[in-house]
Amino acid sequence: MHEFRQLFRQWLGAVCLVVIAYAPTCRLHAQTAPTAPAATQPVPLLKEMPVQSAARAASEREHQREMDLLGIKELRPGTEKDANWDESKANVYAKLPDPLVEKSGKPVTTAKEWWRVRRPEIVEDYDREVLGRTPANLPRVTWEVVSTTPEKMGGIAVVTKRLAGHVDNSSCPQIAVTIDATLTTPADAKGPVPVIMELAFAGEFKASLVRPISDTTTGALGDYGQTWESQVLAKGWGFAVLSPTSYQADDAAGMTEGIIGLMNKGQPRGLEDWGGLKAWAWGASRLLDYLETDKTVNAKQVGIEGHSRMGKAALVAMAYDPRFAVLYSSSSGEGGAKLYRHVYGEPLSHIETPYFYWMGANLLKYAGPLTPGDLPVDNHELIALCAPRPVFIGAGTSVRNEPGKPGDGWADARGMFLAEVAAGPVYRLLGKKDLGTTEFPVMETAVIDGDLGFRQHSGGHTPAPNWPTFLTFASKYLHGPDASKAP
Ligand code: GCU
Repeated sequence: MHEFRQLFRQWLGAVCLVVIAYAPTCRLHAQTAPTAPAATQPVPLLKEMPVQSAARAASEREHQREMDLLGIKELRPGTEKDANWDESKANVYAKLPDPLVEKSGKPVTTAKEWWRVRRPEIVEDYDREVLGRTPANLPRVTWEVVSTTPEKMGGIAVVTKRLAGHVDNSSCPQIAVTIDATLTTPADAKGPVPVIMELAFAGEFKASLVRPISDTTTGALGDYGQTWESQVLAKGWGFAVLSPTSYQADDAAGMTEGIIGLMNKGQPRGLEDWGGLKAWAWGASRLLDYLETDKTVNAKQVGIEGHSRMGKAALVAMAYDPRFAVLYSSSSGEGGAKLYRHVYGEPLSHIETPYFYWMGANLLKYAGPLTPGDLPVDNHELIALCAPRPVFIGAGTSVRNEPGKPGDGWADARGMFLAEVAAGPVYRLLGKKDLGTTEFPVMETAVIDGDLGFRQHSGGHTPAPNWPTFLTFASKYLHGPDASKAP
């Protein structure tokens, strides 16, 4: 299932429509970017549509262009067959970078040193080597409430607003960028409510717009009873659904479009430019800007959730925007909450093949000439960037996904748990509680007594079974205006 070619095939199916929609843009008028010969093409398994071949070729050209600029000849193999599935072989790199030791070697012993010295050092490493740099001069976003609809969801009267964030594209008018989102709040709330923002996959966002609302067709992947939206509403809170792919396509060919393309005036990105995760996180922050202006919302109590690639993006959003109050990062795995140095399930070299555009270009180096052990940071430090705010990490079983036997081993629950454990010292330094254990918990045990939370459910690659536990965790921090519904 995770074979490179199969993945490319699945991925292309999802993106080909986006590619068809793309018109020539500012790049036609701008300087010619350095190009590289097309990468070796994988042998097609099925007959491709011309548009799919075009998208694959464009993606592989961009991959090769970045490899060439970095002087990288080849990456380590990264398919599911190349992955390690044996926990006893997962800890090949003895030491994690210490989040509480400065580059100078000085131990960090006060919160002030963390904020002034060490945290900026970690951010700089992530920006340069892992995620790419968010541009400084990002354009203004003007929010439009496209429609306001009173309706009922799970028996609760709500108001749903369809929102459009129009991104100022005067720097390159050929590239139009709009952020699509919705906001649903209880109609009878006694005051501004906490809101959980979901970063939705394209299909989920589309499904969330379908009316009449069904209690089983929205958001959550997999049917585990009440939808996450209904669970959130039952608390007296509201929810927002953001469509990250509306402003940055989930493919490399789309990097000369969307917000990344707009910032580069349609040119290919530079080696230190941001990747998709940072761009998706940027849009989450812009939606939070809107929520700050909406009187039905308590914008100091906005949580953020995402699953899988959107779980990675949600973690990045939380790490980089201190206004998010609580995080649920589900099955984010490699490039998300999992330690790069815990070699189990998805390898870095896999992310850096079909999904290299999620990250900054420099991360390619660590899947080729260098190894995860050479990274200046690891993802316990991405979690630590969220401190002191509460973080909940969820995952499914550690077994491989097989037909008829759903597993979430690719996302590596233990690798994420270990990252949370290693983020603990930063939480403690800032006066908060760590996970409270260093022992990997028995399946379905909610570890939510501290300010870091964790749960592994017994299903496959889905966020649904961990929603109730996340909401119990979040209820320690988010409080609605309606006392009878407050936890
Ligand atoms: C692939 C990818 C993962 C990612 C997942 C998803 O499996 O390898 O890193 O999390 O897609 O987003 O569904």
